Amino acid sequence: MSFILAPSLLSANFLHLEEEIEILNGSMADRLHLDIMDGVFVPNISIGLQQVKHLSRISFKPLDAHLMIVEPQKFIGLFRDFGIQTLTIHYETCTHLHKIIMQIKENGMKVGVALNPHTPIEVLTDVLEELDRVLILSVNPGFGGQKFIPNSYSKVSRLKNLINKKELNTSIEVDGGIDIKTGKMMLEAGANILVVGSFIFEAKNPIEMIKQMKGL
Ligand code: DX5
Ligand code: ZN
Repeated sequence: MSFILAPSLLSANFLHLEEEIEILNGSMADRLHLDIMDGVFVPNISIGLQQVKHLSRISFKPLDAHLMIVEPQKFIGLFRDFGIQTLTIHYETCTHLHKIIMQIKENGMKVGVALNPHTPIEVLTDVLEELDRVLILSVNPGFGGQKFIPNSYSKVSRLKNLINKKELNTSIEVDGGIDIKTGKMMLEAGANILVVGSFIFEAKNPIEMIKQMKGL
């Protein structure tokens, strides 16, 4: 099946980020997924702007930033300057979602909106036309290595139906607890972008695991 594989750097070794990115540069990964957390919206803190700036200079893969932060609108210009290609914000953090979506597009980036496991897909009905992708969280965001929430399967297939009904070609990205088995399920349900963290970085040979996943 043709799909996009985006390893999430969250599970990489942060003491050796340069080496980890070089590994990904030489792999079959399609993009690189950066998780940005603020300790407010999610109970964890990940990488900061200074790290994004430096790693964006050495990554050969296009960069996606998944912003798990309150007031994401404050950082749009900075992420644009770092060369981020797709900026994904959380529905739950945006009072004026439509306005922020348009600001991201005006800044020349692709735009995604992420939904927490409890947030129904219908909240995006009136902005779907404006989106390049919808990110379905298949765990509660904040940490790598959590257990996949099975309801995500029907959520993705309902979203796929809504996208088809509206005759759009919005991408569906899934993030959280993705491995060979759950990844295959999600692709069958209609997803076309898989974000994979611990399953790749905790594998004995991440390059081989990426290759194996690309063969799904
Ligand atoms: C969770 C993050 C994910 C995380 C996924 O809050 O959004 O991108 O890195 O990690 P795994 O694949 O280990 O669930
Ligand atoms: Zn993520």
